[in-house]
Amino acid sequence: MQNNHAAERNLSDIQDLLACPACRGIFERKIDTLVCRACGNVYFIREGVLMLAVLGEAETKPSAHQGPTRESYQQEYQQLDAAAGYNLKYKQHVFKRWSTQREFRLLDRLLSSQPRSHTLLELPCGGGRLSSAMAKFTDLLIEADIAMGQVQYSQQHSRMETAQIWMTASALHIPFRDAVVDGVVCIRLCHHLHKPEEREQLVVELLRVARRFVIVTFFDYNSMKNIIRRMRQPIHRKRQKYTMTVSEVDAIARRHNARLEACPMLSWIGSGHRYALLVKS
Ligand SMILES: C[S@@+](CC[C@H](N)C(=O)[O-])C[C@H]1O[C@@H](n2cnc3c(N)ncnc32)[C@H](O)[C@@H]1O
Ligand SMILES: [Zn+2]
Repeated sequence: MQNNHAAERNLSDIQDLLACPACRGIFERKIDTLVCRACGNVYFIREGVLMLAVLGEAETKPSAHQGPTRESYQQEYQQLDAAAGYNLKYKQHVFKRWSTQREFRLLDRLLSSQPRSHTLLELPCGGGRLSSAMAKFTDLLIEADIAMGQVQYSQQHSRMETAQIWMTASALHIPFRDAVVDGVVCIRLCHHLHKPEEREQLVVELLRVARRFVIVTFFDYNSMKNIIRRMRQPIHRKRQKYTMTVSEVDAIARRHNARLEACPMLSWIGSGHRYALLVKS
C-alpha cells in the first residue's frame, strides 16, 4: 500500500512525461494543480488522482447509430456507485469471471513476451479488474480512465505492491508526450467507439505515447460471434457491433512504425474480442 509520500514521489517521477491533453504543452506543477505553460489550462489533483481527462465534444450531426455515443459512454461511470455496479457484475456473474480468468492468461502471455517495463499505462483501467495481471511486469503502473468513479473504485480495490498512479484521462487525448511510457494496455474500449475513424484514432494515439508496445482489444468483424450476430440481425434487430478486422489493425500499425505481433481471440465461440499486441519498430 502506498502512503501520500510514495504517491507524491511517483507523481514527480512521471511529471516530465506528461503533456497537456488539450495542446500537448508541458506543465508547471503548483501545489495541487498542473498548469499548462502553453495554453494556460489548469488541471487539478484531487485525492491523489490527476484530473487530466478531456471529455469529447458534442456530436455535431445525428447518425444511424443506436447505442450510447462516445460522449454518453464517457459519462457513464463518473460516479462511484455506477462504477461499483459495473465492477460487481464482473465479480458475480460466472461467465464474466471465466472471461476475466482468460483475460489474465492472455495478458500474462503477451506481457511476458516483452521486456519488463519501467512504466506501463493501463487506459482504460475501469475499476482495476485486470490491473493485478499487469502489475508484475512493470515498476510503475499508471491506471487511467475517463471516469472518476472508475478511478476511485480502482484506487479503493486494486492496491498492490507495485507503485501505482491514478489519473483521469481520455484515450483519444492521452496526457503524455510521444513515446514516453514503455507500454500501453487498452482493454475493452475500442468496441464502444461507434465511428471507424475514432477506432483508428484510438490505436494511433496509443501508439503515439508507447515507446515499445501496445496491447489493444477490438471486436473482430470476422469472429464467429459477429458472423452469427450479423446472420440473426434481420430477426432480432440488435444493432451492429463496432468492429475492426485483423488486417485493418495490422495496416494502422504499419503506417505508424509498428507491427502486429500477435492477435489471439479471447474465445473462439463465446467472444468476438481479440487481444492485439503491436510492437514498435
Ligand atoms: C468496458 S470498460 C473496460 C475497463 C477495463 N479495461 C476492464 O476491462 O475491466 C470501458 C471503460 O472505458 C472508459 N472510457 C469510456 N470512454 C473513454 C475514453 N474516451 N477514454 C478513456 N476511457 C474511456 C469507461 O469509463 C469504462 O471504465
Ligand atoms: Zn495546453
